[in-house]
Amino acid sequence: MEHIEAYQKSFITYLEDFAVTKEPKNLYEPINYILRLGGKRLRPVLTLMTSEVFGETAQNAMDAALSVEVFHNFSLVHDDIMDEAPLRRGQETVHKKWDLNTGILSGDAMLILAYQLFENYEPSTFQALAKLFSKTALEVCEGQQYDIDFETRNDVTIQEYLKMIEYKTAVLVGAAMKMGAIVARASNEDQNAIYDFGRYLGIAFQLQDDYLDAFGNPETFGKQVGGDILENKKTYLYLKTLELGSESEKTNLVENMSSSSISDSNKVESVKELFNNSGASEATQNAVKNYTNKAFTVLKTLNISEDKKQLLRLFGEQLMNRRV
Ligand code: IPE
Ligand code: IPE
Ligand code: MG
Ligand code: MG
Ligand code: MG
Repeated sequence: MEHIEAYQKSFITYLEDFAVTKEPKNLYEPINYILRLGGKRLRPVLTLMTSEVFGETAQNAMDAALSVEVFHNFSLVHDDIMDEAPLRRGQETVHKKWDLNTGILSGDAMLILAYQLFENYEPSTFQALAKLFSKTALEVCEGQQYDIDFETRNDVTIQEYLKMIEYKTAVLVGAAMKMGAIVARASNEDQNAIYDFGRYLGIAFQLQDDYLDAFGNPETFGKQVGGDILENKKTYLYLKTLELGSESEKTNLVENMSSSSISDSNKVESVKELFNNSGASEATQNAVKNYTNKAFTVLKTLNISEDKKQLLRLFGEQLMNRRV
């Protein structure tokens, strides 16, 4: 087994060769742009690591890893349209740099490219990968629709929120790992356990993403800080403020979020203060820890050596403490 950075490096080398240089330019340039903007590459790293954890080479999992990363980037292109986001990885989003139609169509093409990469596997692996991928991709769409529906609802529960983030984010993290296990022909029991490990990590990951959206460092975060507040997202921070805050804090939150008379920056600052004073920020950090620990509990059930478990645990700990 190698270190996390080594998987990242070999993945990036593989990705470099994936440049699509066909015509029309306006379809393929945005694809190359978003795929080369950087990013943490955490999903493909998980696919490669899992393949090795279950006794296969990382090299044989490269196309599955690339598929997951291409799908993830497709989902970001469309997500940035839906969230009206100006920045991604410190650069202009595709629909800002080009236009809306370009974002839609280049995104569509990326979804197809992601599927196409499975053709490099023999039939039984192809079938298992495609089946998991279709289920996961549809769930991501469901999660994204809930996310949008919740913007205009005022009665969203924590339970509904948790289901929404499980679908929009966590299932893909689980699937990234299960794909590595499929390529390695791991037992069904291990495939399902590693999926659950990834799913719990993915929930923790999205909770941390909500936290960083408000409290990340604008210099390094790469996205517009406060974007969720401006888009009226029903994040864990928001829902916990409504649960834990005093009556005046709750009223203040609802008023701030619905007001059109205050400037964007004042709104973001006031709402962040409410997140902190109500105890919602702390509750979010605790929830990140809890879901990471749930993942670690699943890890114990896997039929793999202790040093492999340690590597997966290290990955989970790094995610929990990330600042970007
Ligand atoms: C962003 O994912 C979308 C979420 C599911 C929160 P990442 O934070 O993994 O984005 P990159 O690929 O590293 O930019
Ligand atoms: C993204 O959730 C989930 C998907 C892209 C499917 P967010 O909207 O929170 O992701 P960011 O914050 O824009 O990266
Ligand atoms: Mg977004
Ligand atoms: Mg979104
Ligand atoms: Mg976010």
